[in-house]
Parts: sequence; C-alpha cells; structure tokens
Amino acid sequence: MKLLLLCLGLILVCAQQEENNDVAIRNFDISKISGEWYSIFVASDLEEKVEENGSMRIFVELIYALDNSSLYFKFQTKVNGECTEFSAVADKTEEDGVYSVNYDGYNVFRISQFGDSTYIIVYLANFNKDRPYQVLEFYAREPDVSPELKEEFVEIAQRQGIVKENIIDLTKIGKFSYL
Ligand SMILES: *[C@@H]1O[C@H](CO)[C@@H](O)[C@H](O)[C@H]1NC(C)=O
Ligand SMILES: *[C@@H]1O[C@H](CO)[C@@H](O)[C@H](O)[C@H]1NC(C)=O
Repeated sequence: MKLLLLCLGLILVCAQQEENNDVAIRNFDISKISGEWYSIFVASDLEEKVEENGSMRIFVELIYALDNSSLYFKFQTKVNGECTEFSAVADKTEEDGVYSVNYDGYNVFRISQFGDSTYIIVYLANFNKDRPYQVLEFYAREPDVSPELKEEFVEIAQRQGIVKENIIDLTKIGKFSYL
C-alpha cells in the first residue's frame, strides 16, 4: 500500500507540474474547505463511471474538515431515477494533501486550488480491482462559472488523457441543472 501511495503521489505531483496554463494551480488550503460546494464538471478516463448511473456521476453539496483531519463529503446522486443523498469520510494519508476513501473500491485524491480559493479541482485515482481509473472533478462555491474557466478545466482534463466525451458539464444535466 505504501508503494502504491508513493506512485500515486508522483502521478499527482506530475499532473500538477505538467500544467502550464493561465490559471494558477496549487495545493488548496484545507482550512478553507468547509461549507457548500457545487459540482461543475466530472471527467474520467473510464466512460461508464461518468455516464448516466455511473458511480462517479455525483454532485457535491457540502464538505467539512473534521477535527481529526478527515474530510466529510455530502453528495447527491440519482439512483433508479430518484435523487439520493449519501456521505463519505476521507482520511488523510501519510502524504501531505493526499486523502483516501473507500467508494467503488479504494481511492486516493488530492485537492488543488484552481485560480482563487472559490474553485477546486479534485484529482482522484481509483484502484478498483477490475479496472483502475482516474477522475477529475471541478467544484465551485457558486454554480455559475465563467465559460473561460470551464474551457480551462476541459483542457486540463484533456491533458490528463481524458477525451472530451468523458468530460461532463454537470450544470447542464436535466434534473440536477442548477441554472
Ligand atoms: C475522523 O472522524 C470521522 C467522524 O467521526 C470518522 O468517520 C473517521 O473515520 C475519523 N478518521 C480517522 C482517521 O480516525
Ligand atoms: C439508469 O438507470 C435507470 C433506472 O434504473 C434506467 O432506466 C436507465 O436506462 C439507466 N441508464 C443507463 C444509461 O443505463
């Protein structure tokens, strides 16, 4: 497990360094995370995870930094056509800024600030036994995000090897549409 985390840490660090765009990306200050968030995009290199009924096609509502350094997440999703809420607690790993959570297998993720502190990108690696995959999520404090920032996120996801079809604008999806 340690080796796995080390490898993942390297992947996540490289992912950050590779980016050379207009919007600054750096580690998010976790002390600022608590409160409401909106899912703007979800992207994955495994299509079934972000398509309809996919396990990662989920909508964040709240994140709280707990006293024991774990993070509490509340999500909304659609199960059999019904909106359902669920929560997950992610624990800190030995590596600074990297968290782990069990959900559809074992996951590790890092949270980066995307521009100012009202936008974050979650880089997640899932180590599902059958088929590991990566997920990028874009969360914002407000549901309406500028087209420029959205385009920037799409480019970041594409640079991570995710095809455009698997980069889902969640603000435009049916019942969950915010706008
Ligand atoms: C931190 O507290 C939460 C809520 O009580 C719990 O679910 C989680 O497992 C705790 N994390 C650790 C690392 O003990
Ligand atoms: C998602 O689940 C619903 C309800 O079970 C089903 O009607 C729908 O066809 C599913 N969509 C896909 C793309 O599998």
